[in-house]
Amino acid sequence: MRIKLVAGNWKMNKSLEEGTQLVSDILAQLPPLNGRVVFATPYIHLSSVAPLLKGREGVYLAAQNCHQEEKGAYTGEISASMLRSVGVDYVLIGHSERRQYFGENNELLAKKVDITLSKGIKPIFCCGEPLEIREAGTHDDYVAAQLEASLYHLTEEQFRQIVIAYEPIWAIGTGRTATSAQAQEMHAGIRARIAAKYGAEVANDTTILYGGSANAGNAQDLFSQPDVDGGLIGGASLVAADFVAIVGAM
Ligand code: PGA
Repeated sequence: MRIKLVAGNWKMNKSLEEGTQLVSDILAQLPPLNGRVVFATPYIHLSSVAPLLKGREGVYLAAQNCHQEEKGAYTGEISASMLRSVGVDYVLIGHSERRQYFGENNELLAKKVDITLSKGIKPIFCCGEPLEIREAGTHDDYVAAQLEASLYHLTEEQFRQIVIAYEPIWAIGTGRTATSAQAQEMHAGIRARIAAKYGAEVANDTTILYGGSANAGNAQDLFSQPDVDGGLIGGASLVAADFVAIVGAM
């Protein structure tokens, strides 16, 4: 079954006090859920946010990254098992900012996907093209190559744990959202590629999120597309009323 989902990616924002307040405000206003809500907080907030989510059906905790190795001498890094030990359910893998600023490539991301799955955490795998690729008209192949290189080594059972987030880089934090038609076209294309690799049933069950300047004003339009199953929300996830409205549009 395909699960709808809205995830808030806080990126490097909010003090601990501001973050726990934001979660409390959102939880107090959440409408009846039509899918899952995920909070992707900074690492140091996870242990404090986890107890706030306890007993709340449909609400999950995510990290924004994790290291690709089990454990060891990697100063400053956080492993997937550490994340699991504080109650993390999902982890963002391959966000375009990780790819751009931290040199994360498709091969490294495949390792992160593997370690995450092995610890019982679901990857939210981010893909999406830069502006020049969109303008050259090769965005379809570009995104297909990202999926192939980082995910297609997975078994069907493993792939079923993956959530895909399509985030055109030109739309992230720019206020320039993809139109709902552009999002639908890409999502349908991604689903068709998954069907070719894993079969129609797996493809139909895969949750594919849109990300990139989604907000309270455009969420309804985006989410009404048949292949858009929710959103990965950056800026608008930092304001309780906006995030609640986006969840309501799911
Ligand atoms: P944005 O970010 O909603 O601020 O564009 C989305 C993301 O980077 O996941």
